[in-house]
Amino acid sequence: MTGYVFIIGDPVEHSLSPDMHNAAFAHLGLDLRYLRFRVPRERLENAVRGLRGLGIVGANVTTPLKRDIIKHLDRLAPSSAETGAVNTVVAEEGELVGHNTDGEGAISALEEATTLDGRYVVVLGAGGTAAAVCYALASRDVSLLILNRTPSHAEELAASLNPARGVETGSLLDRDAVRRVHASDVVVNATTVGMGEDRSPLPSDAFHPGMTVLDCVYHPLHTRLLREAEGAGAVTIPGTRMLIHQGAASFRLWTGKPAPLDVIEGGLVRALGRRGQL
Ligand SMILES: NC(=O)c1ccc[n+]([C@@H]2O[C@H](COP(=O)([O-])OP(=O)(O)OC[C@H]3O[C@@H](n4cnc5c(N)ncnc54)[C@H](OP(=O)(O)O)[C@@H]3O)[C@@H](O)[C@H]2O)c1
Repeated sequence: MTGYVFIIGDPVEHSLSPDMHNAAFAHLGLDLRYLRFRVPRERLENAVRGLRGLGIVGANVTTPLKRDIIKHLDRLAPSSAETGAVNTVVAEEGELVGHNTDGEGAISALEEATTLDGRYVVVLGAGGTAAAVCYALASRDVSLLILNRTPSHAEELAASLNPARGVETGSLLDRDAVRRVHASDVVVNATTVGMGEDRSPLPSDAFHPGMTVLDCVYHPLHTRLLREAEGAGAVTIPGTRMLIHQGAASFRLWTGKPAPLDVIEGGLVRALGRRGQL
């Protein structure tokens, strides 16, 4: 019988995940379908009951439900327990288990372009995505700097980490932030700045050749941050690489099979093309 995977959030119309996963399910001949459902916060509890009742294989969870869903699940994997956010739900022997694949997605995207060991990494932001990225980075041999508009949020995030090396924090809005970013090897933008707008969280003189810059924001595809970093000679990674890898990690959790990365990417590119976003 056909198994179902849902994405729930509000909004979800923009999500590229159905295109990525349905392409991968079809390619591997899996009898699975991926559907999107808009679920406003006030309907979350009933929606999770519905997921249980329908006997889903799994789900993705997006804004604004990533934290709220936790109290409705049976268990959390360490990736979710540590970050306090869920982007993937897996049905396991009658239980709904929360996972977070955003951190793994970011690390895989970075490691396609650079090595992380011994590097000085700056994460911009201290929200849910920044937390997932910082938790994944904390287990690596990196020095970490978290810069955020509200410095106290960066301090709270840093205090919750157990980093292999040191972790520093600061204000993203200080002029000093530019100097600190310029001194780094790797930059990850995990703020919402640039999403659906032509703005960058950093001025263009923050970048240098030899730097690697990942923008978690993937709409638009070529954000101002990436264009300016590329102009300064940095290696740039669009948010779609992270999206592909976090999707691949969720796919493995649901199916137990390695994800066909090129097929997932093909599904994503076709969806972007249909929307005129390439
Ligand atoms: N590529 C992928 O696979 C992927 C996966 C997950 C998320 N994302 C993207 O990651 C981004 C962050 O999402 P999220 O869920 O982490 O958001 P979030 O939890 O709401 O956090 C937002 C962060 O952005 C900062 N911020 C907001 N407006 C700002 C401004 N005007 N200037 C400077 N900083 C500002 C906030 O700072 P304060 O603490 O000061 O409020 C906070 O650190 C989104 O664009 C999302 O689409 C991408």
